Amino acid sequence: MSKFVITGGAKLSGEIEVRGTKNFALKIIPASLLSKEKMIVSNMPEIEDTKRSLELLSSLGSKISKDSDKYIIDNSEVKETTLSSDIAKKFRASVMFVAPLLARFGEVKFPHPGGCVIGAGSRPIDLFLEGYQALGAKVSHKDGHYIIKADKLKGCEYFFTTVSVTATESLLMAASLASGTTVLKNCAMEPEIEELAVYLNRNGAKIEGAGTPIIKIEGVKEIGAGDIEIMPDRIETGTFAIMAAATNSELLIKNCRPENVQILLEIFKKIGINFEAGEFSILIKKTEKFTSYNIKTHEYPGFPTDLQSPYTMLMTQAHGSALIHETIYDRRLLFSDLLAQMGANIIMCDPHRIVVNGPTKLQGKELTSPDLRAGITMILAGLIAEGKTTIDNIYQIDRGYEQIDSRLRSIGAKIERVTD
Ligand code: EPZ
Repeated sequence: MSKFVITGGAKLSGEIEVRGTKNFALKIIPASLLSKEKMIVSNMPEIEDTKRSLELLSSLGSKISKDSDKYIIDNSEVKETTLSSDIAKKFRASVMFVAPLLARFGEVKFPHPGGCVIGAGSRPIDLFLEGYQALGAKVSHKDGHYIIKADKLKGCEYFFTTVSVTATESLLMAASLASGTTVLKNCAMEPEIEELAVYLNRNGAKIEGAGTPIIKIEGVKEIGAGDIEIMPDRIETGTFAIMAAATNSELLIKNCRPENVQILLEIFKKIGINFEAGEFSILIKKTEKFTSYNIKTHEYPGFPTDLQSPYTMLMTQAHGSALIHETIYDRRLLFSDLLAQMGANIIMCDPHRIVVNGPTKLQGKELTSPDLRAGITMILAGLIAEGKTTIDNIYQIDRGYEQIDSRLRSIGAKIERVTD
């Protein structure tokens, strides 16, 4: 097994490039199934989850090739509509293959999707199943698999009783090839959803309102395919900004979209972290002292749950008390116990709320990465802790952050990947 070994105290400097968004790549890869034409993907993040997604796609008969840094996806020969359990259970985003297969082939068979330990139970998919039924599909369950069939999906009106990113993206894709009009209400508004709609509209779909709570889709007979460049990852952007602030370093974050992390930058202004935002870059400047600020995670454009754990770590170095309220996922605060083991002053108020008092000195520890966002947080904590920090189960980190150790070494971090 591999692990990361980090020696704390190094000052970071220089510049770091943000990679393509994991949570957009994991939608655009299955979205290629909506068309029999070729999709050409650039700026693909080379991470474990996208490798799993491409494996799953090729297990369906897709022809995937690489031309320098572009992926060419040819689904003209795809006939298989059953998702392989071995692969699908490895990551939650396997659920994104259901809508395009159902819309294009009229049937799909799949296991309950896998993924992180966060979230109540095993990450529910009730909103997806109800949405497909609203579109006229028949849903059944046998031998641990869901089977969904529909001769032809018909437009409908569907109201999401919980705001869900992947359920919004799934029903948007399914409705794009349905007959008639679909109106989705109480939709998620993440930038990745708008980006998906822009790509589909460029290739013949008729989707209005993506990025707002109400999305209207006119079903079309066929959707083409073409070039797509994966947008920069806003969670990587925010994570690197927090890392620079926590280590009191000057760091230029390049190839990013500052407007997609506006809530974090607005908080940085309030707590006194110096930075300059350009059109596609953020320069974090040295800041000796910054204060605490309460957050409550919320759907976009609110504070993203995927930045909650790095932000919680930042608050261990802030002056004052910060209430962190995680409203999206159960168990997404459990990692704070690891920070407490490193010396952080954290009070667990209830499973969704903690108070972080700072600043406190952290001590290096031997840790296990519970999920990818808590995993990167342990790396950040190791960078500021005294002494050595080792992190195992780093597959969880490699799921979402491309070559993170070599990229951090290039800006001065003392981090090594050690294989037993
Ligand atoms: C997406 O997950 C992201 N994953 C998550 O990133 C992200 O944390 C989350 O959105 C929120 O922003 C991908 O895009 C692949 P949800 P998703 O459905 O869509 C409940 C990461 O670290 N729910 O928006 O699965 C659910 O339990 C990952 O990159 C239902 O109840 O999240 C949660 O409480 C983690 N029934 C809430 O909705 C459903 O059918 C929001 O989850 C679906 C979801």
